[in-house]
Amino acid sequence: MSATEYAVRCRQLEKVFGAGETSVRALRGVDWDVPLGEISMLVGQSGCGKTTLLMVLTGLLDATAGTVEILGEALHALRGARANSFRLQNIGFIFQQYNLLPALTAAENAAVPLFAAGVPRRAATGRGRALLEKLGLGARADAMPVELSGGQLQRVAIARALINEPRVIVCDEPTASLDAESGRAVMELLHGVAISPDRAVVIVTHDNRIFEFAHSITYMEDGRIVRRANGNGTTGGRPPGIPDSMQ
Ligand SMILES: Nc1ncnc2c1ncn2[C@@H]1O[C@H](COP(=O)(O)OP(=O)(O)OP(=O)(O)O)[C@@H](O)[C@H]1O
Ligand SMILES: [Mg+2]
Repeated sequence: MSATEYAVRCRQLEKVFGAGETSVRALRGVDWDVPLGEISMLVGQSGCGKTTLLMVLTGLLDATAGTVEILGEALHALRGARANSFRLQNIGFIFQQYNLLPALTAAENAAVPLFAAGVPRRAATGRGRALLEKLGLGARADAMPVELSGGQLQRVAIARALINEPRVIVCDEPTASLDAESGRAVMELLHGVAISPDRAVVIVTHDNRIFEFAHSITYMEDGRIVRRANGNGTTGGRPPGIPDSMQ
C-alpha cells in the first residue's frame, strides 16, 4: 500500500504529560497504520493511553516525540491556520465528553463544522436538523444541550462529527451511553462511512456489542500497542481474537 492508502500512520509516538517525578508517560513508542476503507477499533484498560493516542494522532495534542501522517500529510509540518483548516475539512471527532456548546440548539451544534466552513447559518442548521432526523433525534433538534439525555447528547456529537463528510472519523466511546438499538444505528451509519474506499473510522471502545463491526481490533496496554486482530467488519459474527474478559 502506498502512504496515501492509509488514513493515519504514526511512528514511535511518545507522549509525556508533566515533568519530573509526577510525569506520566502516556504513549511509549506507538507505531500504528490505520487503513482507509475500514473501521479500526482500539481497545485497552482505562488509563492505557487510548484517548491520548487519538488526540495526538489528530493533532489536538502535540506529541513529545515521533511522527504522524494523516491522509499522506505530515501533521507536524502543518501549523496554525493551515492545520486547523486541514482538520476541519478532513477529520470528524466524537469526543468521550461530548463537548457541545451549551448556548446552541441540538441542530446548531450538529452544524458547527458547517458554520466554521462558511455555510450560511440557516442552510447549515437545516442540514444539522436533517442529520439528527436520520439519527432518530428529529423531534429534539431545537432542544438545548441541557435539556437532552446522555444518549441524545451523544447522537448530537455524532451528527457534528459526520456533517461535513470528513474522510477520517475518530470516535472515543461513541456508543457507551446508547441503548442497543441506538448503538446499532450509530454503528450502521459509521459502517456506511468506513466502507467507502477513501474514508476511515477509528473507534476507541469497551462496548463488546459493536466489535462485530470492526475490520481490525488493536490492543493497547500501558502506552503501547501490543496486538492486532483482524475482524470481519460486517454486521454479523464476532471477530476473532477478542479475549473472554471483553465479551
Ligand atoms: N492532561 C493530562 N495531564 C496529565 N496526565 C494525563 C493527562 N491526560 C491523560 N493523562 C494520563 O495519561 C494516561 C492515559 O490517559 P488516557 O486518557 O489516554 O487513557 P484512556 O486509555 O483513554 O482511559 P479511559 O478508558 O479511562 O478513557 C493516564 O494515566 C492519565 O491519567
Ligand atoms: Mg479515554
